[in-house]
Amino acid sequence: MIVLITGCRSGFGLLTAVAAAKAGHRVYAGLRDVSTADGLRAAAKGLAVEPVQLDVTNAEQREQVVASILEREGRIDALVNNAGVALGGFQEQVAEDELRQVFEVNVFGLWALTKCVLPTMREQKSGVVVNVSSMAGRMAMPGLGIYASSKFAVEGMSESLRHELRPFGIRVVLVEPGPYETDIFSRNRRMCRGAQAREGEYAAVQTKLEAFMEKRFAKGGMGDPNEVSELIVRLLDDANPKLRYPLGPSTQARLWMRRLLPFWAEEKLLDRIIGL
Ligand SMILES: NC(=O)c1ccc[n+]([C@@H]2O[C@H](COP(=O)([O-])OP(=O)(O)OC[C@H]3O[C@@H](n4cnc5c(N)ncnc54)[C@H](OP(=O)(O)O)[C@@H]3O)[C@@H](O)[C@H]2O)c1
Repeated sequence: MIVLITGCRSGFGLLTAVAAAKAGHRVYAGLRDVSTADGLRAAAKGLAVEPVQLDVTNAEQREQVVASILEREGRIDALVNNAGVALGGFQEQVAEDELRQVFEVNVFGLWALTKCVLPTMREQKSGVVVNVSSMAGRMAMPGLGIYASSKFAVEGMSESLRHELRPFGIRVVLVEPGPYETDIFSRNRRMCRGAQAREGEYAAVQTKLEAFMEKRFAKGGMGDPNEVSELIVRLLDDANPKLRYPLGPSTQARLWMRRLLPFWAEEKLLDRIIGL
């Protein structure tokens, strides 16, 4: 299969590019800045992985990458929309440009790149679009509302797109990871400017939230990101996939809680656990 994956500098994108090539696929691995491809090149040595310049917010690059894949391969079988950015901070603290930037990458970039591959997939009468959402696309925690709302948008788009593309033989799938140890929690960890001073009305609850997160992640609460890349590679070949694939530490428990408990009970639980 000819596979295009976005956001391959690190994390799920890098691991998926390598795992997909090991499974026999020919991979075009998009990087926001292709000069940062050293880690990918080392991990993919000897495999059919080609790093390509693809900032998903750049219309010219989106069109150029898809056109050059089509010129070389004559087809495109899978798009993995993996590139994403997170943003911490309470919504009152977030500036409009910060909100827009998250949506540019996580929502508009994903939507626009998908549009670039659809004419070919429709003509082929086959293809798969894997959208990397998040548990945050199912449940929105305080202090992560901008990221969560971008992933809620991805969920809505994907659900509708799945119906729209079914008649053309194109599958649309959502992967919904819980917390996994990738660069999103280190090199790419972002707090909005308004939260960086750690002052004002939200400072106390910010400290409590961070303490809660630290405790949760310190106790082995983060998964091995290879689980996510292995799932994505399995989905490339799945002729009849489900719409949603939640995975990761405590993910199933959280979804069951959402199904079984009224929202007020969830609020009480959050008050107890975090001390809002
Ligand atoms: N790790 C988790 O716990 C977790 C949980 C749920 C969902 N996710 C989702 O999983 C996806 C991958 O994240 P990750 O955890 O693997 O984190 P990561 O290691 O930080 O990877 C994110 C990738 O996206 C790239 N990227 C950012 N902006 C881009 C742009 N404008 N154009 C193209 N690429 C861009 C980054 O490139 P640069 O580093 O060069 O900016 C990086 O390669 C994201 O959509 C994220 O929301 C992660």
